[in-house]
This record gives sequence, structure tokens and C-alpha cells, in this order.
Amino acid sequence: MRLTALFPLLCTLVAFILSLLCIFAGSKRGYIEHADIFTLNTSMLGRTTLDTSKSSSSLLNSIENNIKGEVNDVIAGVAKALNIHDFYSAHLLNYCEGYFTPGPLANKTDDPDKNVTQCSNRTALFHFDPTAAIQKELKPGISLADLRWPSAIKDAVHTVEIASKAMFVLYCVGAAATGLALAGAFLGVLSNGRAAALINNALALLALLALGIASAIASVIMSKVVHEVNKHGNDVGISASMGKTFLGMTWAATILMAIAAVAWIYESVAHRRRQSSYIFEGKKGRY
Ligand SMILES: *[C@@H]1O[C@H](CO)[C@@H](O)[C@H](O)[C@H]1NC(C)=O
Ligand SMILES: *[C@@H]1O[C@H](CO)[C@@H](O)[C@H](O)[C@H]1NC(C)=O
Ligand SMILES: *[C@@H]1O[C@H](CO)[C@@H](O)[C@H](O)[C@H]1NC(C)=O
Ligand SMILES: *[C@@H]1O[C@H](CO)[C@@H](O)[C@H](O)[C@H]1NC(C)=O
Repeated sequence: MRLTALFPLLCTLVAFILSLLCIFAGSKRGYIEHADIFTLNTSMLGRTTLDTSKSSSSLLNSIENNIKGEVNDVIAGVAKALNIHDFYSAHLLNYCEGYFTPGPLANKTDDPDKNVTQCSNRTALFHFDPTAAIQKELKPGISLADLRWPSAIKDAVHTVEIASKAMFVLYCVGAAATGLALAGAFLGVLSNGRAAALINNALALLALLALGIASAIASVIMSKVVHEVNKHGNDVGISASMGKTFLGMTWAATILMAIAAVAWIYESVAHRRRQSSYIFEGKKGRY
């Protein structure tokens, strides 16, 4: 038994759970769906278009009149009037959509909560395509062009596709390596050998590499996408934001595997020291 090895075992266990959560968060309604990679806020989509009423679509003009006719629900009703949702949140395997409660705008007393109404089916190598998702739901007769959907979003979607697929593969490798490292850590606690510590160190390093790159993609590339969407979407009422919970989970898993890797190096060195002092004492005892 080597009780100090319980420390890297614990780190690996938590990292394993976190890496699975990164993959499966939001893959079903009610299943930690607030841990999104990023969220697109479309609650004000079309609002400026409706205001300037330069639209060529007569249907859009009639919606505009409808919304203006309704009680002061102008703000709350834009997305619903277009038949789309207030927000779309991207996850690794699918996306979820829903409405802000009580309304899309924050005021001093109430922060809007996300009320997810449904999530798409789980798909391996999934990537979120907001253009397709919104096009599918838009009231017939209205096109994204009517709403002045920015064409720059197409480039952003392409980036999201590449980044999402890379992240999917990396999280699978990362979760598998963390799972093996967990099994190895159990053996490492039970057996006292130096080889076990070194193998566990290699597994922890592999997991660290995969999770680290995936986390970097989530932080750097996805936030660049969010920045682009905000830059080009602001005028037409689209905004995006990063999911802080997801980033927290993915970086926590990465840091825990880094700690586990260092701990296993310590274990292998400590083992060697224990053994050499054992030999030394043995020789001394003979004299
Ligand atoms: C959604 O976007 C609108 C317009 O960009 C903004 O005013 C509103 O505060 C956003 N709501 C949330 C909950 O982020
Ligand atoms: C904030 O919004 C909620 C729900 O729309 C409303 O009940 C409340 O009065 C608002 N508070 C302020 C200070 O406007
Ligand atoms: C969330 O949406 C569902 C219907 O989609 C509704 O029944 C429920 O009351 C909403 N929850 C809140 C807190 O508004
Ligand atoms: C999602 O899955 C359900 C059942 O597994 C299926 O009936 C449905 O057609 C799927 N939806 C899509 C869009 O693939």
C-alpha cells in the first residue's frame, strides 16, 4: 500500500467526472444545460429591422404592426413573433433552445434566467449551426435576409465546425486517458512499484495534453467566434456569450491532471529514495 498515492487518485477521479460532464453537459433537457460552450442571444433579432421598417417583406411589416399593436410587449415578443427562440446554447453533442424568464432584458432586481424548452438529439462530431437552426424555425415567408442576418456569421460557423470536431475527439481521448489513469491510480495505491508510478505519470500526461488542447480551443477559438458574432451581430440584435461553467469545468479537469502527473513523478522519486534508504539501512544492519 502506498497511501500518498491516494492524492493523485482523487485528482484523477474528479478530473474523470469533469471530463465526462464536459462531453455530456446539456445533452438532454435538464442535464446541466447551463454548462454551454457558448450561447447565442437572438431575443432582439429583427428588432432594428422592424424599427426602421425598410423591409421588403410585407409579412415582416405586418408582424411589425402586430407587435406594436400589442401592449408594451414589444421587447418580450420579438423572437416569439418570428417563431424563433430567445437563445440557442451550443454544447459538444447538441444544442438547446429556449426563452429568457421573465424577459430577455436584465433590470436591477431580476436577472433573466434561461428556460430551456428543448434540446436537439445527441450527435457525435456535432457542431452548432445557428443559421440552419433559426432558418428552420422562422415563420414561413420571412427569410434571414429580411432580418439582415450578417453574412460574417457563415465564417464563424465554419470555425465553430472545425473547433467543435477537434474538441469532440480531444475530449474522447482525454476522458479515455483519464479513465485509464484512474484504473492505474487504483493499482498504484495497491502496489508499491516504481513502474506503476511511471505508467500512471504517462497516462496523466496524455490526458493533460488532450484536455489542455481542448480547453485552449474552448477558451481561445470559441471566444474569438463569440467576439466576431458580437461585432457583426450587434446591429441586428444578435449577441453571444461564453459559458463560464463549461470553461471552469474543462480547466479544472486539465489542472487536476497536471497535479496528478506531478504527484506521480513525486511518487516514483519517493519510491526510489525509500528503496535506497532501505538498502543502506540493510547494509548498516549487517555490520
Ligand atoms: C440579449 O440580447 C439583448 C440585445 O443584444 C440584450 O439587450 C439582452 O440584455 C440580452 N439578454 C441576455 C439575458 O443576455
Ligand atoms: C424587473 O423585471 C421584472 C419582470 O419583468 C418586474 O417584475 C420588475 O418590476 C422589474 N424591476 C424593475 C426595477 O424594473
Ligand atoms: C419554462 O417554460 C415552460 C414551457 O416551455 C413553462 O411551462 C415554464 O413555466 C417556464 N418556466 C419559467 C420559470 O418560466
Ligand atoms: C431525435 O430522436 C428521436 C428518437 O430517438 C427521433 O424520433 C427523432 O426523429 C430525432 N430527431 C432528429 C431531428 O433527428
